[in-house]
Amino acid sequence: MALLVKMGTSFLLFAALVVAMAFVFSSCSAADHCSPVVPCNATTCFEYCQKNNYKNFQTSCSPGKYYPICCCRVPGAPLP
Ligand SMILES: *[C@@H]1O[C@H](CO)[C@@H](O)[C@H](O)[C@H]1NC(C)=O
Repeated sequence: MALLVKMGTSFLLFAALVVAMAFVFSSCSAADHCSPVVPCNATTCFEYCQKNNYKNFQTSCSPGKYYPICCCRVPGAPLP
């Protein structure tokens, strides 16, 4: 019984890990890379994208829940 509980726990941990990995990978392959940048304006967002080695990107700021979010949009990147 204890073994079953243990297996159940590790399965849950494994499932959580898989979900977390899928989330990370899907956000990486997305055309947009968005992250909170404070304050967000054309200059700060541009610098943020440049620091992340984006090439030929377009920047955009959007209001987030707590912070403004800067998005680096790379044209031609595969859409999710
Ligand atoms: C963007 O914000 C930074 C930091 O507040 C400021 O120095 C810069 O002048 C701003 N640029 C524009 C275009 O508003």
